[in-house]
This record gives sequence, structure tokens and C-alpha cells, in this order.
Amino acid sequence: MFSRLARPSNIKSTLVVLRKFSASAQNQYKVSVLGASGGIGQPLSLLLKENPLISQLALYDIVHTPGVAADLSHIETKAQVKGYVGSDQLLDCVKDSDVVVIPAGVPRKPGMTRDDLFNTNASIVRDLTDACAQACPQAMICIISNPVNSTVPIASEVFKSHGVYDPNRIFGVTTLDVVRANTFVGEARGIDPAGVNVPVIGGHSGVTIIPLLSQCTPPVSFPAEDRKKMTVRIQNAGTEVVEAKAGAGSATLSMAYAGARFTKSMLEALAGKEGVIECAYVRSNETDAKYFATPIQLGKNGIEKNLGIGKLIEYEVGVLKAAMEELQANIKKGEDFVAK
Ligand SMILES: NC(=O)c1ccc[n+]([C@@H]2O[C@H](COP(=O)([O-])OP(=O)(O)OC[C@H]3O[C@@H](n4cnc5c(N)ncnc54)[C@H](O)[C@@H]3O)[C@@H](O)[C@H]2O)c1
Repeated sequence: MFSRLARPSNIKSTLVVLRKFSASAQNQYKVSVLGASGGIGQPLSLLLKENPLISQLALYDIVHTPGVAADLSHIETKAQVKGYVGSDQLLDCVKDSDVVVIPAGVPRKPGMTRDDLFNTNASIVRDLTDACAQACPQAMICIISNPVNSTVPIASEVFKSHGVYDPNRIFGVTTLDVVRANTFVGEARGIDPAGVNVPVIGGHSGVTIIPLLSQCTPPVSFPAEDRKKMTVRIQNAGTEVVEAKAGAGSATLSMAYAGARFTKSMLEALAGKEGVIECAYVRSNETDAKYFATPIQLGKNGIEKNLGIGKLIEYEVGVLKAAMEELQANIKKGEDFVAK
């Protein structure tokens, strides 16, 4: 007689649910994942399929996306999943995207630095962002592909070449550095990592990763030697995973988590939530480096406000100084690549 939801005893709660749904239904976003069949791309797409702010999830790769999309499309959430494969379908995939997340490209093997990936990944990111500049110039571009220190300048130069560059909309995803720092500090201090926040500034490779333990919430104190050990562990955490995987790649599951966290924050900011803050590697005037990661307040137009590096203690000033040469060289390498 009554439908399952409309049982008399349930009518009030049903109305509440419907009201909530119609409020959130105004905020429906298209998110594209480029490199969606990979070690990061698949679990990232899975996590995004669960995000209620996403109405369309467009998955692009040079292989396997029809299968990945068919598989994910059976999950009982509202995001419509569509797979696109091969460069002929790239423009269609990214067209009208609100957010594009890019984990395409080769990962490290033991003994490699992130910069060793440049030769392969630079052209992949150039070509993918070229399509974005044409088909979704207003989208928030979130770049995971390494070396992030160079791929973000590459994307920026590509957008400039199309005359559609907005520095507030291009982000290098460094969330994994923050996630690792929170986890390691939580473990070391016996506190739930979910309640820890360590800002991580600088870039996303070795010495350019600068965790600001002095700005951790809740405040934690470290003897000098422990502070140094913790800093070095956070800087080399990616290599810990690369070595443990012994040739089978780099961080994929934790990166998928971090990428989904960053995308969620981005979408919430687009939907009007205030006070959304994530560290990200962006065009910056905070230091002598043109691109630099700092805590960023996100908003409807991307970067709402760069919250800057804050007050560093002497040890962190030294870590920052040690980062600058490599970071600036990485940035120049990316810019020169597009100029050529
Ligand atoms: N930002 C970070 O914190 C972070 C962390 C871990 C890994 N990474 C980087 O993410 C990237 C991907 O890592 P992974 O482990 O998923 O690698 P993977 O090899 O498992 O997957 C990469 C995917 O990219 C696809 N691909 C290759 N060329 C492409 C193109 N032209 N267009 C679209 N897709 C293309 C491949 O087919 C593959 O499915 C690497 O560059 C890695 O270094 C970044």
C-alpha cells in the first residue's frame, strides 16, 4: 500500500531526507580522472565514486578505462561513471569538468628520484593539460603526476600558451606529505592521527618537502635530534614505499586517499563551504621560488587566500634554505620544457 520510504511512521524523516537531498542536489560536479586505470587512478576513482558532490565521474586513460568504468558504475552511489580511452576521446572526457585530477604517468622504481620521471611524465602532463586548456579552461586542475615540482609549472605554461591561465586554479597535490606527517607524528606521540595537522610546505621531492612540526596542531615538542629524524622520515616517506614495493611502483593506496581528500576539499569549497584549508603546491609569492606549497584557503574560484609559511623556527629556516636550489631548478626545467 505504501512505498518503503513513505510508511506513515517514516514520513517526517523522509521529508527531512528529501529536503537534505534537494539542498545538496544544487551542487553537482563533474570530476575527471586522467590516468584512471593506474595504481593510483583506480582506488582514487573508487573513493571519488563515493563522494556525494560528484554527479559525473569521467575516467580517462590510454588503456582499460571501459572496464574500470563498467566495474565502478555498479556501485550504488549517484555519480554516473563513464570511461574514455585513447587520445581521440580525451577532449570529450574533460569537456565541462569542474575538477580534473591527474595521476597519469610512470611511478618510481627503487633508486630513482622523482626528477628521473621527468622525461616520460613531462610530455604526458603537457598533452593532458593542453586538452584541459581547450575543453575545460575554468576547471580546477589537480596534478598528482611526478615530478610535481616541474609538472605544475608545465601545466601553467600550457594554460598560458592558450591564453586561459588562472594561477588560482592549478594545484600540485602534496596532500600525501601532510597525511604522512600527521600519521608519523600521531604514532610518535600516541595521539589519533585523525586529530593531528602538520602543515607541509615547499615542494614534493626529498629535501624540498618541508614539514613544519613547530606549527603542528595539537602542539608537539621534539628534542632537536628527534625533530631532525622526523623531518627526514617525512621527506623520504615516498622512498620507504618505493623500496618496500621493490620495483612494483610507488605509493598508490595512500596517494589515492590523499587525492580523494584533496578533491573532496576542493568540491566542498566550490559548493560554498567556508574555511576549507589544504596545503598545495601553487603559483606563489611567498618565497623566491615561483611555485611553492603552503596552506591554502580554498573557495569557489580556487585559491581564496594563500595562508603563507607562517613563523618558522631556526631549524625549519635551515630546511627551507636547503630546499630552494633544487626547487627552483625543478621549476625552471618544467618551464623550459614547454618553451622548447
Ligand atoms: N603527488 C604525489 O604525492 C604522488 C604520490 C605517489 C605517486 N605519484 C605519481 O603519480 C603518478 C602515477 O603513479 P601510479 O602508481 O598510479 O602509476 P601507474 O603506472 O600504476 O599508473 C599510471 C597510469 O597512467 C596511464 N597513462 C600513461 N600515459 C598516459 C597518458 N598519456 N594519458 C593518460 N594516462 C596515461 C597508464 O596507462 C597508467 O594506467 C606517477 O607519476 C607517480 O610518481 C605522485
